[in-house]
Amino acid sequence: MKYYKLMRCICFFSAYVSFLSDIKHFEQNLELKHCKETETMVSLSIGKPSLFIIPLVVVLLTIFFCFLESASASAEEAAALFKWKASFSNMDNPFLTSWTLQPNASPCSWYGVSCNNGSKINSLELGEVFTNGTLDNFPFSSLRNLEYVDMSDNQFSGSIPPQIGNLSKLVYLDLQGNALSYEIPREIGRLKNLRTLYLSDNALNGSIPEEIGQLRLLSDLTLADNYLDGPIPASLGNLKSLAYLELNGNLLSGPIPPEFGNLHNLVQVYMDTNYLSGPIPPSFGNLNKLEVLYLSSNDLSGPIPPEIGNLTSLHDTLSLFENNLSGSIPPSLANLSNLTRLCLYNNQLSGSIPKELGNLKALEDLDLSENLLSGSIPSTVGKNLSNLQYLYLPGNNLSGPIPQEVANLTKLTYMTMAKNHFSGHLPQGLCQSGVLQYLFVKENMLTGSIPRDLKNCTSLLLLVGTNSPENSLRCLGYTQNWKSWNLATTISMANSRQTGVDVQT
Ligand SMILES: *[C@@H]1O[C@H](CO)[C@@H](O)[C@H](O)[C@H]1NC(C)=O
Ligand SMILES: *[C@@H]1O[C@H](CO)[C@@H](O)[C@H](O)[C@H]1NC(C)=O
Ligand SMILES: *[C@@H]1O[C@H](CO)[C@@H](O)[C@H](O)[C@H]1NC(C)=O
Ligand SMILES: *[C@@H]1O[C@H](CO)[C@@H](O)[C@H](O)[C@H]1NC(C)=O
Ligand SMILES: *[C@@H]1O[C@H](CO)[C@@H](O)[C@H](O)[C@H]1NC(C)=O
Ligand SMILES: *[C@@H]1O[C@H](CO)[C@@H](O)[C@H](O)[C@H]1NC(C)=O
Ligand SMILES: *[C@@H]1O[C@H](CO)[C@@H](O)[C@H](O)[C@H]1NC(C)=O
Ligand SMILES: *[C@@H]1O[C@H](CO)[C@@H](O)[C@H](O)[C@H]1NC(C)=O
Ligand SMILES: *[C@@H]1O[C@H](CO)[C@@H](O)[C@H](O)[C@H]1NC(C)=O
Ligand SMILES: *[C@@H]1O[C@H](CO)[C@@H](O)[C@H](O)[C@H]1NC(C)=O
Ligand SMILES: *[C@@H]1O[C@H](CO)[C@@H](O)[C@H](O)[C@H]1NC(C)=O
Ligand SMILES: *[C@@H]1O[C@H](CO)[C@@H](O)[C@H](O)[C@H]1NC(C)=O
Repeated sequence: MKYYKLMRCICFFSAYVSFLSDIKHFEQNLELKHCKETETMVSLSIGKPSLFIIPLVVVLLTIFFCFLESASASAEEAAALFKWKASFSNMDNPFLTSWTLQPNASPCSWYGVSCNNGSKINSLELGEVFTNGTLDNFPFSSLRNLEYVDMSDNQFSGSIPPQIGNLSKLVYLDLQGNALSYEIPREIGRLKNLRTLYLSDNALNGSIPEEIGQLRLLSDLTLADNYLDGPIPASLGNLKSLAYLELNGNLLSGPIPPEFGNLHNLVQVYMDTNYLSGPIPPSFGNLNKLEVLYLSSNDLSGPIPPEIGNLTSLHDTLSLFENNLSGSIPPSLANLSNLTRLCLYNNQLSGSIPKELGNLKALEDLDLSENLLSGSIPSTVGKNLSNLQYLYLPGNNLSGPIPQEVANLTKLTYMTMAKNHFSGHLPQGLCQSGVLQYLFVKENMLTGSIPRDLKNCTSLLLLVGTNSPENSLRCLGYTQNWKSWNLATTISMANSRQTGVDVQT
């Protein structure tokens, strides 16, 4: 704050010096329009040592005016902020004890408040300060210089007032993690400088205003976990700078606008847990920077477009589970060679598991459960996917033996193959590495004994009977259904106590 004040004084100083050398520019400079030229102007004054007494007087005058000016400028802002604070239901908030009105005191030193070089408030960092209030009395008209506002993780309730559109210098607005309700005001589309807009985790309702599509500089947009309904406006396809998008956990319906294929800068997209319907637009294949794609838990239908195989930057998760996707798994997915999680469970996918998936060498989590897949598990899954930790295939129509190659997957921790038509014996050596913890094979046509070597897995839970926890194991890292898992219904085989148990079919 002190730094800013000093800078402002230099501006005044240069203004006066400039006045001495060119009287015509006096007015302009006094209005501080040429503060950028501070350095050159200061050196100009040094170049005129014969007049040194004048600059000295000027300095003194300047200091006087600086403090006078900044004090009065901030007094209005201080009063306005103080009035807002007075509307909080917890005014005694320990974080805001510095927010007091004293003569000539600047709000720039208040907790969470920062000012620009003209001592105007330009930043409010009030994240997680346990504030309980509304934005109704927020001094929108007094704080026109705000560029950065963080009020996340508080207990603000009520609406986002339309006057927010008056904060035309805003670059960063974070209101997530509050209890804000009502609709997102259309006026938000006036914040043309906005780069970050975080509104997740509130109780906002109504539809997403299409005016958000006017925020051409926006790179981060989160609207997740609200009650937003209606369609995703096609205008979001105008947000060419968008890199991070969260729309998940709302009541959004209708199709995914194909215009999203224009957003070449998208890196992470979360649209899961809504009521989106229709196909996955093939234009998604253009998003060549995309690293994470969550479209799970919607009503999407039609095939997985082969163009998804174009998304070679995907290196984390492709999550399409709990939709109504049909057709076969496109072999082009094999191009996603850095993918670590492929979650396609609970769809209507048919055909066989493409052997090309053996190309996904980075894959740690493969979940194809609850589909209509048939045929046998390609041996490439066991041969090539050496990083696989989770292999979930229950509830399909898969047949043939469980390939011996899976015993070579030395990181495999969870393997569930229940409710298929697998036949033959369980592979030998599944516990060579000793890391296998869950092996669920109930409701198949397996025969033979449980291999003795399973006792090498020190904490194995083996399910061979009819009482399994019903597919409660899912792709980890995002939806974890572990909580609902009832251990009492499982057959637990502790290390070394039982060997050679007959497999029930
Ligand atoms: C002071 O702020 C103005 C606008 O807020 C800016 O244009 C100017 O460059 C700043 N001056 C300095 C010296 O930082
Ligand atoms: C916030 O204040 C309102 C009333 O002013 C009160 O009903 C509510 O419980 C408070 N919320 C919290 C989390 O303190
Ligand atoms: C602020 O915004 C409101 C609502 O958008 C508008 O009616 C009003 O004219 C604006 N005030 C100023 C001072 O711009
Ligand atoms: C939106 O939220 C407000 C405040 O909670 C509520 O009064 C209103 O009924 C809600 N509207 C809809 C359509 O749910
Ligand atoms: C796939 O990517 C190539 C180049 O990366 C591009 O030319 C082509 O249009 C993309 N195809 C689709 C369907 O997205
Ligand atoms: C996948 O990669 C192969 C070459 O590795 C290329 O011929 C094919 O067009 C790619 N498919 C897609 C959908 O990108
Ligand atoms: C996979 O990741 C490696 C290392 O991060 C990178 O060099 C390579 O280009 C990536 N492959 C693709 C297809 O993006
Ligand atoms: C899923 O799609 C099929 C047609 O492919 C349709 O008959 C069925 O009603 C859809 N199910 C849901 C839940 O939308
Ligand atoms: C499996 O890995 C081998 C050796 O790295 C490779 O030659 C082969 O093409 C891979 N198979 C598949 C289906 O990707
Ligand atoms: C399951 O696969 C068998 C062939 O392996 C086929 O005859 C049967 O129709 C399939 N059942 C379903 C429901 O797809
Ligand atoms: C398992 O790996 C070993 C060496 O890594 C190899 O010799 C063996 O053939 C593999 N077994 C299968 C069934 O692929
Ligand atoms: C069991 O583990 C030990 C070392 O932990 C290893 O030497 C042995 O070969 C394993 N036995 C089997 C049958 O995998």
